[in-house]
Amino acid sequence: MLTAGVLQAGAQPPGDVGIQIVGGELAAKGEFPWLVRLSMGCGGAMYTEQLVLTAAHCVDGTGPDTSIGVTYGVADLQDPAAVKRQSTYVHSAPGYTNVTAGDDWALVKLDRPITGAVLLPIATSTAYDNGTFDIMGWGSVRDGSLQQERYLRKARVPFVSDSVCSGSASYPRLVAAEMLCAGYPEGGIDTCQGDSGGPMVRRDSAGGWVQVGIVSWGDGCARPNKYGIYTQVSYYSAAIKAAADQLGGGGTPTPGKVFENTNDVAIPDAGAAVTSSVTVSGLSGNAPSTLKVGVDIKHTYRGDLVIDLIAPDGTAYRLKNSSSSDGADNVITEYTVNASSEVANGTWKLQVRDVYSADTGRIDAWKLTF
Ligand code: ARG
Repeated sequence: MLTAGVLQAGAQPPGDVGIQIVGGELAAKGEFPWLVRLSMGCGGAMYTEQLVLTAAHCVDGTGPDTSIGVTYGVADLQDPAAVKRQSTYVHSAPGYTNVTAGDDWALVKLDRPITGAVLLPIATSTAYDNGTFDIMGWGSVRDGSLQQERYLRKARVPFVSDSVCSGSASYPRLVAAEMLCAGYPEGGIDTCQGDSGGPMVRRDSAGGWVQVGIVSWGDGCARPNKYGIYTQVSYYSAAIKAAADQLGGGGTPTPGKVFENTNDVAIPDAGAAVTSSVTVSGLSGNAPSTLKVGVDIKHTYRGDLVIDLIAPDGTAYRLKNSSSSDGADNVITEYTVNASSEVANGTWKLQVRDVYSADTGRIDAWKLTF
């Protein structure tokens, strides 16, 4: 994940998530749960449990290919908890020749599914091809460098219209319908070498992630007026789906239903438990065995915290215990809870208790994804 200028740090220990790097910052494990790293030095996203969507320029064309290693489920590429797979087959976009001509997408089939993987739905219309986008990757942090990062980085970039992006200072030969531009006229924040193939995402109207772009190309990285260029996923969504159906390996993702509370709740020091509620309605039957609980808690010593999910009937699911030795900041992560014996509709609570004195914090936001 690139940012321009010289104020770049390379790999940073995971405890330093609070430090802001100009233009980009470290991402937490679980923050982009569908993201994968590919061994040739690209990113990708889980499209089905057995198919990864990436860029055509990251792969060697269509056909059997057992050369690609796939790493899922981590922000630190050396995290021993990484889920690893190997490719068996690649489907590269039929018309692809080079990035500047478009068609920069490909599907990589894995040797076996990553069961329970979080899938990233792709945009199927241009409705989400605007607004502010999240970009992320283990790519270079400096224009002109090929060095890769150990820890995942992220940044936010605004949509740039085709007319601005194809302006004379930028890319006069932009293939407008097939490419999506993002970034700032002054540069400074961008994807870069090694981020390719990774998704550019935003939230859909229900609050779930939707993939609008695939990191494709740019003139250098983060240069003024040289926006990042992304494969416009909505333009290719039917072709991607058709290729995925042919490849087999599981159905396309159905976007999860998200219920969120973004009101701050203070967590008193060594005090009583506090809760934040989310009311779930409109669902039928029980919660899934893979209920996702996304938690964004700011705290200056997270080992102080005991966190539970309380189901509508009062059943508590322990998400995290206290640990006097874990002095890192914040709990920003996604837990998976087997809630299949709970009715989905009703009031769910996140309960947080600070059990040691000295540090405080707040629940910034939390959400349930069914
Ligand atoms: N082609 C690059 C790669 O293979 C990605 C370039 C993205 N460049 C940009 N300025 N956004 O990793």
